[in-house]
Amino acid sequence: MRKLSILGTGKYVPSKIMTNDELSKFVETSDEWISSRTGIRQRHIIEEDNTISLALGAAKLAIIDSGVKKEDIDLVIVATVTPENTFPAASNMLQAQLGLGEIMSFDLNAACSGFVYAIDVANKMMQSGAFKNALIVGSETLTKYVDWSDRNTCVLFGDGAGAVVIGEGSGEIIDCISHSKGDENKFLYGAGVEVRKFFNKEKPTIGFIEMNGREVFKFATKTVPKAIEEILTKNNLTIDDIDKFVCHQANERIIESSAKKLGVSMDKMYVNIAKYGNTSAASVPIALDDAFKEGAVKKGDLICIVAFGGGLTWSSSIIRL
Ligand code: ACO
Repeated sequence: MRKLSILGTGKYVPSKIMTNDELSKFVETSDEWISSRTGIRQRHIIEEDNTISLALGAAKLAIIDSGVKKEDIDLVIVATVTPENTFPAASNMLQAQLGLGEIMSFDLNAACSGFVYAIDVANKMMQSGAFKNALIVGSETLTKYVDWSDRNTCVLFGDGAGAVVIGEGSGEIIDCISHSKGDENKFLYGAGVEVRKFFNKEKPTIGFIEMNGREVFKFATKTVPKAIEEILTKNNLTIDDIDKFVCHQANERIIESSAKKLGVSMDKMYVNIAKYGNTSAASVPIALDDAFKEGAVKKGDLICIVAFGGGLTWSSSIIRL
């Protein structure tokens, strides 16, 4: 097995911040309701930026942080459910804008699990020896698919991007496990385009994010502990062996409930949702970058990253930093 390591991290979020109080001016909600139910205090919202520019900002910082030369990167994966176009892929545009040469690049859609899925995919591709260094980005502009009059969903989401560079180093991606269960897709879906009838001159409309919050909450509080237990058991590890759990930041109460079920102290759960809201596939790499910068994780630590999302999908990895 090749020992693949996270060599560098970066994040980029749009400069416009919308606080809960600002949101409460145009939808019937309050800072108290949002923060007590979710832990969210504010979110970053795109104005000029898009999924590719956010990805570019995060990727540049991750590449600098990794010390890897651009010409030594030979694989790009962008995890996103909000690409600018159906094609070309956001990853193709990123490859061009970074001047990476004619390397393989593709987008991966596993909703909020996308970044952790991408780590799994890249690790398995790189174990073959076919690739040396991979740039893996989670970049999302979900606010463009938010119905700002629907208080059940609009308070939850924000925009941003996080990135990592993976290659041989002192750490190790020890294991990754990913799952999907498409038969429960109805609880969480987004942005479908209606069928265009041949003689209908009207432009097709896109849909908004639709979510059954209570069902997703039940799914998440069952799945996050299950995913953690599965990957620990498979690798003969226990909760005590893990220095930090970096979970998808969808709702602080989901992280608290998972910690309680597993018997893990909240000190071991990294939480930064207050600043960003749910940034979907960007949430885990943004959390990883913040955790490094704040000193909440350091080289040599053993971490578990885990995410769940639309699909339904879920994925976890155990990584020695
Ligand atoms: N402000 C004020 N009141 C609100 C708001 C709001 N923003 N939203 C809902 N309410 C009201 C509801 O209308 C309801 O009122 P009612 O009792 O009169 O009908 C009441 O508050 C309680 O609503 P619940 O749905 O029971 O609230 P709950 O405690 O379940 O919290 C929440 C809702 C935060 C959405 C929670 O269910 C949740 O976090 N679910 C998971 C969401 C999630 O993780 N999504 C992941 C997306 S991942 C991806 O792939 C995109």
